[in-house]
Amino acid sequence: MKNRRIAIAEPDLSELEEANVVEAIRSTWISSNGEFLRRFEREFAAACDCQHALAVSNGTTAIHLALATLNVGPGDEVIVPSMTYIATANAVRYCGAEPVFVDVDPLTWCIDPARIEDAITPHTKGIIPVHLLGHPADMDPILEIAGMHGLWVVEDAAEATFATYRGRRVGSLGRIATFSFYGNKVLTSGEGGAVTFQDPALEQRMRMLRGQGMDPRQRYYFPIIGFNYRMTNVAAAILCGQMDRRGQILDNRRRVVSHYESRLRGIRGVEVRDDAEWATTSPWMFAVLIDAAACGVPRDELARQLEAAGIETRPMFVPIHTLPPYRGNHERRDTSLPVTDRLGHDGIMLPTHTLLSEADVDYVCDSLVAALKGRTVSPGLQRRAA
Ligand SMILES: Cc1ncc(COP(=O)(O)O)c(C=O)c1O
Repeated sequence: MKNRRIAIAEPDLSELEEANVVEAIRSTWISSNGEFLRRFEREFAAACDCQHALAVSNGTTAIHLALATLNVGPGDEVIVPSMTYIATANAVRYCGAEPVFVDVDPLTWCIDPARIEDAITPHTKGIIPVHLLGHPADMDPILEIAGMHGLWVVEDAAEATFATYRGRRVGSLGRIATFSFYGNKVLTSGEGGAVTFQDPALEQRMRMLRGQGMDPRQRYYFPIIGFNYRMTNVAAAILCGQMDRRGQILDNRRRVVSHYESRLRGIRGVEVRDDAEWATTSPWMFAVLIDAAACGVPRDELARQLEAAGIETRPMFVPIHTLPPYRGNHERRDTSLPVTDRLGHDGIMLPTHTLLSEADVDYVCDSLVAALKGRTVSPGLQRRAA
């Protein structure tokens, strides 16, 4: 195919997922009950070394459900990184609580444990470390600080399904963890999410909150206000197929990420994040930082040139403390978040999915290097890539 566009993300769906969906439809169990849902929850909990997993409608509702289960409410503060997708902070606001932003570590790009204690006040209830772009946050010091101050920890693992931290599974480290199965994620059902936890005491309240607050023993009796955050059995059917194929999906994504790393490491003006020695990352979205002072091309100009070459990219997340709904509460604290600002300014995400060949990744890297040198990649090279 000539001049094919390289998408930032594409779901990896096979005949297995298709057959599961057909089975779900034929069974007539298409709403939020059914065998695929039970199977997915069982298998996902086991894959995260957790006692419990509840499937939910998406990764945002997963975080809200976790916080609601922990009774987060008005007047509470929750410590979050500012370098994350907006859902992490929004879920805190859905509870009427305030996110308090902390800078990230320049090595992991995840919340910096050394900056957390300064942000703790008598109103602080918990910490949400985000395992950003597949790399786990440094959880042991975070858990230690939380323990000393009587805070809970909710892992936002939306971007880090199957990552490990010092040999332990992401999703099993905090009091609760949340996942997303959006179309660009490592496992996907289009829209979808999950909540994992070990403590059986959380289960009943979480199930009730997920299902409108209904008493499990009495239909249409609602002792608490809940939400409809359920997943459908059709979405779970897709996820069961993805779980069966996860080894292959992970291998193929890892192949793409490691090819990017070997091609882009050492190029002047391009910074590649190193994995911490204690981390096994999840091969979600590959990103680099562009140092315009070193290479002469700002990130946004590079993105424009890659777009012209048929390559879709994403800028790194805009730091949440700079966004209109959150600017005010950050300004009141008068702290600076220089690493977050740098990532937001210089970070760019490159296409990462299983359908990319080695030649596709070469084409992206060649185009990136050419743009930094003020050249364009010849169409011939592009044709070879496609
Ligand atoms: C870190 C993070 N948290 C939460 C979410 C929200 O997940 P969803 O899009 O499934 O609502 C996402 C992204 O999609 C994310 O990247």
